Amino acid sequence: MDNKQETGKPIEIAGQVIHPVDCLQGFKMLADGAVHNVSTSPPYNLGGFHADRKIRSYEGGFSDDLPEARYRQFIKDVIKECHRVLADDGSFFLNMKTRIIDGVSIPPFWIMEDNPFHLKQELIWHYPSTANVDKVRFFPLFEYVFWFIKDLKDFKFNNEWAIIGNVWFISHIKDRKETKIEIKGDTIQHPAPFSTQIAQTMVLSTTSPGDIVVDPFLGSGTTLKVCRKYGRKGIGFEKFYDHYAPLIKQRILSDDFPPTLLDLKKAKKGRGKGRNQRLDKYFA
Ligand SMILES: C[S@@+](CC[C@H](N)C(=O)[O-])C[C@H]1O[C@@H](n2cnc3c(N)ncnc32)[C@H](O)[C@@H]1O
Repeated sequence: MDNKQETGKPIEIAGQVIHPVDCLQGFKMLADGAVHNVSTSPPYNLGGFHADRKIRSYEGGFSDDLPEARYRQFIKDVIKECHRVLADDGSFFLNMKTRIIDGVSIPPFWIMEDNPFHLKQELIWHYPSTANVDKVRFFPLFEYVFWFIKDLKDFKFNNEWAIIGNVWFISHIKDRKETKIEIKGDTIQHPAPFSTQIAQTMVLSTTSPGDIVVDPFLGSGTTLKVCRKYGRKGIGFEKFYDHYAPLIKQRILSDDFPPTLLDLKKAKKGRGKGRNQRLDKYFA
C-alpha cells in the first residue's frame, strides 16, 4: 500500500463532509459513541487488481498491496475504531467479497476474529454479472454484507425493511457509469463502487433523518450521495481524495436515484393489483 497520506482540510459538499485522510487518522476526530451508522467497503488488498489479478483496478497512487497479515490487522483496527465511535444502538455494515488469490478463494470470515461487535446478520449482495468471467470456476456473483451491532437488545432497526430479505439482488452497471468522469480528455473511474441501492439499504434501514453516518473508505462517494438525499449527516474519509475529487462531487450531487429495495418489494407485493408500472424495469 502506498503510504502517501493526504492531510488536507475537510471539504463540504451540500452539507456532507469529506476528510482527505487515512481513515485511522480520520477516526481520531470522532468522539466515542458519536456516530449512528458506519457503512463501508474496504479495499481488497489485491495488488491493484480484481478478478484473480487479471483486471487492473486502482489508479491515483494506491497500490493496495500490503502483506496479507498487515492488511488483516489494518481491517481489524478499523473495525475496532468503528465500534468505539458507534452509539450503543448504532449499526455497522461491512461489505466484503471472497477474494481469489493465486487461484484460491479466500472468504472474508477472518474479520470475525477478535471482533468486538455482535454479528446481527450476514447479507448477500447478489448481482447479475461480473468482470471475472474465467470459465475455471462458477462465475462469482455475490458479495457479503456483514451487519454488526453493539447491543443485542437495544439497536435501531426501521423494521419495515425486514421484508426485503437477506439476499439483495442489485446490478452495479448503472453505478459503474455514474462513477466515471471525463475531464479534459482524461477518464477518472472508481474501480469498486458499491451500488446506490446498497447504501440506501444500509442507511435507511438503521438511521433517522439527522443521524450521523460515517464511511471510512468513501471511494466514489456513494454513502454520502445517499446521506444528502435522505437528510443524514455524512462523514467520509478517503485517502486518495485528490484523485477522485471531481467524481465524488458529481456522485454526491447526483439526483439520479433508483427506487429503494423496500419500494421494489412493496411494489412487487402489489403486482396485478394496480402495481406501479414505472418500476418494472428494475425487476429481475
Ligand atoms: C472499495 S473502495 C470503496 C468504494 C465505495 N464504497 C464507493 O461506493 O465508491 C475502497 C476505497 O478506500 C480508499 N482507501 C484505501 N486505503 C484507505 C485508507 N487507509 N484510508 C481511507 N481510504 C482508503 C481507496 O482509495 C478506495 O477509494
